[in-house]
Amino acid sequence: MPAITFDIATADQATLADIHESLHAEHQALIATGLTLDLTRGKPSPEQLDLSAGLLALPAPGDHYAADGTDCRNYGGLTGIREIRELWGEIFEVPAGQIIESGNSSLALMHDCLTHFTLAGTSVDTEPWGRTAGGAAVLCPVPGYDRHFTILEGLGIRMISVPMRADGPDMTVVRRLVAGDESIKGIWTMPSYSNPTGALCSTEVARALAEMPTAAADFRILWDNAYAVHHLTDEEPTVPDILSLCAAAGNPDRVVIFGSTSKITNAGAGLSFFGGSPHNVAWLQRYLFRRTIGPDKVNELRHFRFLPDVDSVRALMRRHREVIAPKFAAVLEILDTRLTGTGTAEWTTPTGGYFISLDVVPGTASRVVELAKQAGIALTPAGATFPYGNDPDDRNIRIAPTFPSLADVAAATEGLALCVLLAAVEQRRGATVSG
Ligand SMILES: Cc1ncc(COP(=O)(O)O)c(C=O)c1O
Repeated sequence: MPAITFDIATADQATLADIHESLHAEHQALIATGLTLDLTRGKPSPEQLDLSAGLLALPAPGDHYAADGTDCRNYGGLTGIREIRELWGEIFEVPAGQIIESGNSSLALMHDCLTHFTLAGTSVDTEPWGRTAGGAAVLCPVPGYDRHFTILEGLGIRMISVPMRADGPDMTVVRRLVAGDESIKGIWTMPSYSNPTGALCSTEVARALAEMPTAAADFRILWDNAYAVHHLTDEEPTVPDILSLCAAAGNPDRVVIFGSTSKITNAGAGLSFFGGSPHNVAWLQRYLFRRTIGPDKVNELRHFRFLPDVDSVRALMRRHREVIAPKFAAVLEILDTRLTGTGTAEWTTPTGGYFISLDVVPGTASRVVELAKQAGIALTPAGATFPYGNDPDDRNIRIAPTFPSLADVAAATEGLALCVLLAAVEQRRGATVSG
């Protein structure tokens, strides 16, 4: 469809009426095409998973010993085999002795960790978060990752939204809140290519997080480095070394680090990691020991045979980039063609990660999602990027371009852009046209 050029702020009512009619007709025609498209979840596409197909044939029969002679088929080795801890420690900037591999989901490790904070506390000398007067709270930079919020909600931890900036959480707000309220126990931070904005946490922000005075002595930075090596451009920035920054600030135990190979190898059958100070690693081991006799070391060995060093990981990620960068480019080009200059939307241009964050006219995100649904295009529910599913401005929509084919991503984004325009014009005209 050719782009309609108008500025929502200045168009007069007659122009808006014409545009409305034309957009409505376009939407009806789109519904009639019977699309079934999905821009919801940030999953790797089958083509991406095929890049790691070789994993499924590893380790070869008879190859089941780790470098130190451990028989990976047997129980034991709670923290993971040495070579995996060394390699992934290097990637996540954690010394090998301070990283644990456990299970296939970093989200599960985050859930475990927060559960133990809530029930038992961050150390033997501190009260469980769950006994905090008035209830413990965690700061949630927004827009953010819905599953982070779900974990907190499930544990009854209060969520306090703080604005997300291009270089990480808004530290003016964060500093003020944590200094004055002992019940604020932590903050989510996604340092590389934050979900959904794609923001990279700067060293200044990371240092400020490490150094800031907190009223709560058991404050934790929940450092979810899910997209550490997921670059979309030739620039391949590294993440601030938060562990060293916390140690240098005299707060060595302040950060707990999470990461996984979910969007590197197999999303449902990868490796996941917890990193932190010696204290924090010993702390988690106490609980892990009760939960499992050891991780899946065969999967660790499989991964090590497939990706034996940092270079092989980086090479694989460049092949991922070849698959997904065109999809991101298609979304951005369509948004630009259809929406730039209309005053109806702003969006991020991520240089890595899995998402694009789209801000539409305040008060219209839910309507955009509804209009898209009518046209067979599934979008993440409006509000999902905010605690309690409540975007106070009803403005943010997360776009996940990786899973569908390039053609489907393009078709879905065309439809989405149409719905953004239609919802904005409806609002300006004070009329919601359904059907
Ligand atoms: C920021 C972030 N953290 C964690 C996860 C899930 O990680 P895992 O597959 O290791 O549980 C995702 C998945 O979308 C994510 O976006």
